[in-house]
Amino acid sequence: MKVFTGISALYTPFERLEQAAIAVRDGRISWMGPEGALPAEYRSWPREDLGGRGVLPGLVDAHTHLVYAGSRLEEYLRRAQGESYEAFLEAGGGIHRTVRATQAASEEELLNLARARLRKLLAGGVTTVEIKSGYGLTVEHEIRLLRVIRRLGEEGPCRVFPTFLAHVIPTGWEREAYIQAITEELIPEVARGRLAEAVDVFCDRGGFTLDETRQILEAALRHGLRIKAHAEQFERTGATRLLSELGGLSADHLEATIPEDWKALAQSGTVGVILPVAAVVLRKPLPDARRMWDAGVKVAVATDHNPGSSPVYSLLLALQLAVALGGLSVEEALVAGTANAALALGKPELGRLINGAMADFLVVNSREALELFYWWGDSMVHSVYVAGERVYPHQ
Ligand code: NIG
Ligand code: FE
Repeated sequence: MKVFTGISALYTPFERLEQAAIAVRDGRISWMGPEGALPAEYRSWPREDLGGRGVLPGLVDAHTHLVYAGSRLEEYLRRAQGESYEAFLEAGGGIHRTVRATQAASEEELLNLARARLRKLLAGGVTTVEIKSGYGLTVEHEIRLLRVIRRLGEEGPCRVFPTFLAHVIPTGWEREAYIQAITEELIPEVARGRLAEAVDVFCDRGGFTLDETRQILEAALRHGLRIKAHAEQFERTGATRLLSELGGLSADHLEATIPEDWKALAQSGTVGVILPVAAVVLRKPLPDARRMWDAGVKVAVATDHNPGSSPVYSLLLALQLAVALGGLSVEEALVAGTANAALALGKPELGRLINGAMADFLVVNSREALELFYWWGDSMVHSVYVAGERVYPHQ
């Protein structure tokens, strides 16, 4: 039980409140409003003064590939000289290179690597993170990655949403046999062991076809799992519409989508997750976040942290790019990195500061909460709280 005071301005993120107070009981917000209107029953509770700073909901990173070993620096340097991401993938490098390094690493090594990455996200204000498997490929190796993801969630302090990603066909496998292994062995085992909440498919050139994607997602639904897809990053496959049709949580990337696809997302409520850093690193234009938003799509923004297309540790940077290059306002980008991102995980109790929601928030080192978005390359995150407890910096 605690009451937080000394909040100069707070974003819910939909509304701005001045001189706010937040009462937290059992990790949830039991009351929130102007400090002067604090109800009598809360006045005797222990208090924590946040020093006249701005407060925002904890950021939600709804799309990451945090568990992997090895580096792709060499490819990064060559791509910077003009070689293509897709050519590396076709030639057995790219994702396959990370798969080889990941398969060769021990579970403890993978856990240590991912934990260090998660800490960097947390220092940037991220309190919930979706983590995909996908660099294991075989049944045994994917399960191992999902176990690492589960351990990260158990360790805390970040909340972790685990997703099994059907990424690429492993070298040496027949497509049909691999899809059968996913739908008949891997997904049932993932569901039995509660190793993931969702299944994601990379539906694109170099990944799975639309028909294969449908087979995998339908198997996921039969086993009670939620669904997502890497949709329309390189070419328009129809994955965005498929996800809308099947009631998916989100369709992610969306570089090659057209207005018809946005309409489908808007109608189904499937969240459109854009990944600005991946687009910029691959020297591609961002999807038109502005027009998507105006078409009624619930737009979220995520890092897509991975060693290939998006080697980034800052969700804030992704949000700033969504403003500068995607045409969102700062207030909209904040919604895209909090409440909408939480919807991409099917968790409306996260990413917003309202009565009954989880008390996950970040404190900005300024009276103006939105100043966080103003400075590039230097973090204005003062401290981070999960379930009402300070988790960064460590006390
Ligand atoms: O979201 N394109 C597929 N998956 C990842 C990239 C993975 C990688 O290059 O290692 C993505 O961009
Ligand atoms: Fe991704």
